[in-house]
Amino acid sequence: MSELPPLTTTTAWRALGDHYTRMHETHLRDLFARDAQRGTRFTAEGAGLYLDYSKNRVTDETITLLLKLAEEAGLRGKVDAMFRGDKINITENRAVLHTALRAPRNAVIKVDGENVVPQVHAVLDKMAAFCQRVRTGEWKGHSGKRIRNVVNIGIGGSDLGPVMAYEALRHYTMREMTFRFVSNVDGIDFVEATHDLDPHETLFIISSKTFTTLETMTNAQSARDWLLQGLGGDSKAVAKHFVAVSTNAKKVAEFGIDTANMFEFWDWVGGRYSMDSAIGLSTMLAVGPDGFREMLSGFHQMDEHFRTAPFAKNLPVLMGLLALWYADFFKAETIAVLPYEQYLKRFPAYLQQLTMESNGKHVTLSGKQVDYATGAIFWGEPGTNGQHSFYQLIHQGTRLIPCDFIAFSHALTPLGRHHDMLIANVLAQAEALAFGKTADEVRKEGTPDWLVPHRVFQGNRPSNMIFADRLTPAILGALVALYEHSVFVQGAIWNIDSFDQWGVELGKALAQKIIPELEAPAEPVLSHDSSTSNLIRRYRAARK
Ligand code: F6P
Repeated sequence: MSELPPLTTTTAWRALGDHYTRMHETHLRDLFARDAQRGTRFTAEGAGLYLDYSKNRVTDETITLLLKLAEEAGLRGKVDAMFRGDKINITENRAVLHTALRAPRNAVIKVDGENVVPQVHAVLDKMAAFCQRVRTGEWKGHSGKRIRNVVNIGIGGSDLGPVMAYEALRHYTMREMTFRFVSNVDGIDFVEATHDLDPHETLFIISSKTFTTLETMTNAQSARDWLLQGLGGDSKAVAKHFVAVSTNAKKVAEFGIDTANMFEFWDWVGGRYSMDSAIGLSTMLAVGPDGFREMLSGFHQMDEHFRTAPFAKNLPVLMGLLALWYADFFKAETIAVLPYEQYLKRFPAYLQQLTMESNGKHVTLSGKQVDYATGAIFWGEPGTNGQHSFYQLIHQGTRLIPCDFIAFSHALTPLGRHHDMLIANVLAQAEALAFGKTADEVRKEGTPDWLVPHRVFQGNRPSNMIFADRLTPAILGALVALYEHSVFVQGAIWNIDSFDQWGVELGKALAQKIIPELEAPAEPVLSHDSSTSNLIRRYRAARK
């Protein structure tokens, strides 16, 4: 990869800096007043999603300059390199091919000279056959009862995607089956997830890319103990009640799961990009193979849109550039993701790993400290709940918080006038944030002078509106892929490795050192800082 000039020295970056100085006080009220078509011009569509980005603090010139920045940062070449299977995760020397997970059967995508698409479809077929057997009751537990409960044990990318997708697609799930998700090493997670389940009817999916993760292995062991205790201790029961999803067949076998019951994926799938790999086994069990394939088709449609649409009309490119515009020029620290769809209640949590584990980096690909802000903090809650808690700060606080609103034309299960009220609220919030309410307007309502400042809404608070017809499996796939690629766009321009996660390692290693210090029968010799050593001693004393 040829070395690019430092980002902040590029012509486009400098021009954006000048442009920011000239326009950052321009109010959205004026931008809309100047251009009657703004609300329809600053829009783009792809893969069933409609993006209205007109309520952002941008002009035509801003977009032109941001697109110029993308060009100067070599975005086109980087997109092609990812889709081609180049090893763009340079610190781990790995290809980044989550797009291959949803490629059609006849596609050809090579890693080290080998076409990976047939492997992808072989695993999908194996998953589908297994899911059919479980869903029809043909797959029986050890005592001959059918499986009614599925517990996915995993953490990070091996949990957040499956939980989010299960909740998002609940409308399409097999309601007679119970799905639970255990991630935390806090034993309460496992205890609460299983307390009302019958082990005779329970299937555990141990989902771990590495099959070494402390939390998952600890929970898997507890699940094994729980099952054997419930089924009279016959270890043959494990084969009927445990399956694994992993890249590590050796570790799966060591744990005691027959590798015939293992669903494979590959090191070119990052954990946080894996919900459409075999890590989605619980999703497929819940919605069925057809539903899962429909979700994959939505992912693929967004992949194709990202790969082929001109950048000026490309949803992930536009959203990535806008996120960068706010992070680097307006110095916004966070982005709020606010789905007006209860089924997407875990979507912000899912996005936190996707966005922050990917772009929470402080050095460039060549290891140099960056001199600009990288990944923003993502957070959010479904609307309208957030309106009655933290929206106050977004409307009237001192920080700029760009918002992504997500809404659908149709409720999946309409109930009276609820949906109209929901949509009225999301539209109202975006309008209020953008245009606010001036002191004059407040005064005209008869507000006493002393109260006026408190009731003023400055407005000029930016938001995107992502709109779709209804939340189908395909739309969920498109939505996730939209954010995956938006993250890519930002990381590509920041010139960082969006696909490693070294920042999680230090804490993991230190925990491994502390565990024996907490558990040792004899007082251990501690060599931590005085705070950590003191806390270890207090814990030990309390547990005596
Ligand atoms: O600790 C971070 C991480 O490595 C994530 O990137 C990953 O999704 C998660 O842990 C779980 O890892 P695994 O699937 O290997 O258990």
